[in-house]
Amino acid sequence: MKSGLEDVVAAETVLSDVDGKNGRLIVRGVSLDDLVANSRYEDVVGLLFDGFLPSPPDLRAALGAARVAVFPHLAGAVGLKDLSPVEGMRALLARLADGDDLPTALELVAAPAVFTAGLLRLKAGLAPVSPDPALSMAADTLRMVHGAVPTEQQVAALDRYLVTVADHGLNASTFAARVVASTQAGLTSSVLAALSALKGPLHGGAPGPVLDMLDSVGSPGNAGKWLDEALAGGERLMGFGHRVYRVRDPRADALKGAVRMLAASGAIDPARLALAEAVEAAALDLLRRKKPDRALDTNVEFYTALLLEALGFPREAFTCVFAVGRVAGWIAHAREQALDGRLIRPMSVYVGPVPRVAAE
Ligand code: SDX
Repeated sequence: MKSGLEDVVAAETVLSDVDGKNGRLIVRGVSLDDLVANSRYEDVVGLLFDGFLPSPPDLRAALGAARVAVFPHLAGAVGLKDLSPVEGMRALLARLADGDDLPTALELVAAPAVFTAGLLRLKAGLAPVSPDPALSMAADTLRMVHGAVPTEQQVAALDRYLVTVADHGLNASTFAARVVASTQAGLTSSVLAALSALKGPLHGGAPGPVLDMLDSVGSPGNAGKWLDEALAGGERLMGFGHRVYRVRDPRADALKGAVRMLAASGAIDPARLALAEAVEAAALDLLRRKKPDRALDTNVEFYTALLLEALGFPREAFTCVFAVGRVAGWIAHAREQALDGRLIRPMSVYVGPVPRVAAE
């Protein structure tokens, strides 16, 4: 048995290919670089859904209408404000009916953005801001969170993030979505399972702890010592390493580009970026020296942390923002699995006690 199913092929998919050897990501035949340069998040949703769900005449407008449709679920959500944002989102998503049709899919794509923003406002003692269906997902998400119209740079930065994380092969949360879809439970059930998997710090729960690490390191000069002690204590460095990538995660540079865009517009303190770059350099050097037999490079979460912090999301909501992007991939994979039709049911080898033979 391969622990963690490492290197085990568990599905065929037309949705995305993660080339761990060469550090390349392709979504429906389009390279990440091409997606980031030429597509908005709504385009990637349409790309992922093509062939698995009907295409509405105007997907951006349909998603805007879906954000308006799910907004009423926030009524009474004030009772959820003491949960973490991802747990609150999970509780709200559970209110959505299961289905395998386009209306269900559109509401599930819209809901993480609306629920994240609404829960953050409620936690701050403010009323949720109702969606503006005329805006893009990225622009309306920022507007609902901050109650103000975001700048073009902010919208471009969040849109690039959502595009970059929309789909990524058979990661743990997507695999969870496919397992649930294989029982024909419905898309909402698949998304709930996926969100629960994403929550873990080894998966989508990593960006917040990256900031905690930067705060603990404090200054570039302290990076080597702090990281050396963390590794000596057996800690995992958040934002580094990946089950598939044996070289730098291509998304790290896509997101570092967005971070640089925000820094150029003054939205990021240059000292914060310099600290992150110093920590990254020291971490890569230490990981190469301490774990020579394992290629451990920067993954998607490291610069995600700086990007989402600069966009004004609190770190405890970073996993929710990851879900805002990834939900499209979960739904596409769930639909691909449901259309394939086979129940996912692997075998296990029993290594437990055997019944005692009764005395003669
Ligand atoms: C995501 O799969 C995906 O595609 C996921 C994702 C997506 O888009 O869906 O890309 C998103 O989840 C990115 C990863 C975010 N998580 C983190 O940044 C948390 C820190 N990273 C590690 O926990 C780890 O790298 C994992 C969980 C990401 C991958 O771990 P593996 O493949 O299970 O490898 P492992 O834990 O068995 O480690 C192998 C060796 C170990 O050394 P030894 O104990 O054998 O000496 O590598 C070491 C580990 O100690 N190692 C690390 C490390 N990652 C692995 N050591 C220090 N810091 C790290 N980050």
